[in-house]
Amino acid sequence: MKKIALVTGASAGIGWDIAEYLNRKDFSVVAAARRLERMHPLKEQGIYTIAMDVGDLKSVDAALECIVRDVGAIDILINNAATKVMGPAALVPMADLRYLFDVNFFSLVDLTQKCLPHMQAQAWGRVINISSMGGLFCTPFNSPYSSAKFALESWSRTLKQEVKKFGVEVSLIRPGSVKSEIFDNIVNQTKEELAWTGEWQDVYANFLKAMAKTQAEGADPVCVSEVVHEIITSDSPRVGYIAPVDQEQRVVQYIRETAEDERDSRGAAMFGL
Ligand SMILES: NC(=O)c1ccc[n+]([C@@H]2O[C@H](COP(=O)([O-])OP(=O)(O)OC[C@H]3O[C@@H](n4cnc5c(N)ncnc54)[C@H](OP(=O)(O)O)[C@@H]3O)[C@@H](O)[C@H]2O)c1
Repeated sequence: MKKIALVTGASAGIGWDIAEYLNRKDFSVVAAARRLERMHPLKEQGIYTIAMDVGDLKSVDAALECIVRDVGAIDILINNAATKVMGPAALVPMADLRYLFDVNFFSLVDLTQKCLPHMQAQAWGRVINISSMGGLFCTPFNSPYSSAKFALESWSRTLKQEVKKFGVEVSLIRPGSVKSEIFDNIVNQTKEELAWTGEWQDVYANFLKAMAKTQAEGADPVCVSEVVHEIITSDSPRVGYIAPVDQEQRVVQYIRETAEDERDSRGAAMFGL
């Protein structure tokens, strides 16, 4: 029987690619996101698509009920959906920070808890959490996103320790810059829209320009899908992976050889702080 893989945030970017990739590899794929109509081309490829707002527990419960009824219980959960909030840590609005944590962390925990019992009962499962380099490194103006990814890192590593004995493996993928829509609503802001960033406004505006350039030069999302597939097909997947894989050695070496104060100073200097 085909294994059932749920991919959250599958209406764009990395999630879209993972859904298509796993479908080609003959998994039974469930693609979830808020914009159901956007996933129509995935549906045409035979993928089961469903509306799910991961920031809304009721929406998650309703979607899960339909998935179990129509497709079956989830063997592989790919927690990919995320939103982005940026800005100076000293000024970021609390409501925005809370929303980001709801979508990027709390809902992910909730969804995982709901999928684990089936995986534990059948003594096989994979939970693959899409983290980020932002879950390893600190750079200015990225504190909301980065702190939720840091939380995801420690939660996932702990969960792995706890569920391994039930045959469930938990892994994190930390992509570098990958082409997607994640910065689209952030990079093109007017001066008025950036006014809330106060004394950081000029340096923040330059940071956004640099981000837009990096994003445009990002890797193909397939570099993440390949790692997802490697994790699913490995008997003993590691806790953490970098994508694209050819960046892994350089990142690991940098962390090993560079003290955290030095890493943070370099992060700040990169953006003129
Ligand atoms: N792109 C990069 O350079 C990069 C680097 C490191 C890590 N990542 C991580 O990779 C993952 C995918 O990001 P991406 O770059 O592919 O972003 P993206 O192109 O913006 O796609 C994000 C996906 O998440 C969904 N989403 C957002 N809010 C949601 C909500 N409340 N409920 C359900 N779905 C929601 C969106 O669908 P709807 O709007 O239709 O709901 C969309 O399908 C994220 O975890 C991100 O942190 C990306």
